[in-house]
Amino acid sequence: MVEGLLKPAGRVIMISGASRGIGAAIAKRLHSDGYTLSLGARDPRTLAGYDTRRTLAARFEAKDAGSAEAWVDATVECFGRIDGLINNAGILRMVRFDDGEEAAMTELWDVNVMAPFRLLRLTMPHLRKAGHGRIVNIASTDAKRYRDASSSVGYVMTKHALLALSHAAKFAGWDDGVRVTALMPGAVETGLISGLAGVATTRMRPDIIAHTVSFLLTLPDEASVAELPINTRLEPSL
Ligand SMILES: NC(=O)c1ccc[n+]([C@@H]2O[C@H](COP(=O)([O-])OP(=O)(O)OC[C@H]3O[C@@H](n4cnc5c(N)ncnc54)[C@H](OP(=O)(O)O)[C@@H]3O)[C@@H](O)[C@H]2O)c1
Repeated sequence: MVEGLLKPAGRVIMISGASRGIGAAIAKRLHSDGYTLSLGARDPRTLAGYDTRRTLAARFEAKDAGSAEAWVDATVECFGRIDGLINNAGILRMVRFDDGEEAAMTELWDVNVMAPFRLLRLTMPHLRKAGHGRIVNIASTDAKRYRDASSSVGYVMTKHALLALSHAAKFAGWDDGVRVTALMPGAVETGLISGLAGVATTRMRPDIIAHTVSFLLTLPDEASVAELPINTRLEPSL
């Protein structure tokens, strides 16, 4: 047993987009680790199979600022604290340089950037108070580079922005023990990329990301992991 790791018991973790894909895998893993969870989903009825004594199922619609506020308030009312935020909810829309609508660009920005920004601002006072607050922003290898013309430039732009936001949050919470990780997976086998041409054929299971988040939440304040790329393919510097 490694000494000095943070333990799950009594820590309250919020996870956005917990209904399916990576978010559901993280929720299940953290639930079995023993964390108390506040799960955000557009339809909370999708959140079944959790111990209701230590799980809150809340409505969270990324495009609705009021739902973020209500979710954070409900979490504090229910459990009295917030120890962690996993900004996971996200979308992929194809907006390439020469085709794709501006409306899709706006939707990408609202869901992938504005919603995490809002949740970070709302939770930061609670994370600071918690003593060892933790934030994991699920970015992407697309946060680090523009791979080629098959990519959605809109998606790539939002993930770069989320990476910048992660570093800003790291500075905002550092003195109060808040640590922030931009977790940057390559292709993960979920609905987000199913049937998409140009995406890597080798894909990770969502459980691998969940396992990584579980590990990150145990690290003490003096072991900050600001960026963590996990790639399925060979690329320079990634
Ligand atoms: N899959 C990959 O290859 C990959 C790689 C790198 C990073 N990522 C990132 O990982 C995160 C999770 O993606 P995933 O692969 O698990 O995708 P997914 O299977 O499509 O799941 C997306 C999740 O986000 C939620 N969501 C979508 N739009 C929302 C909105 N407007 N308001 C609230 N929740 C919303 C969905 O909820 P509903 O069930 O209500 O639709 C769902 O829970 C995303 O940020 C994505 O960019 C994915």
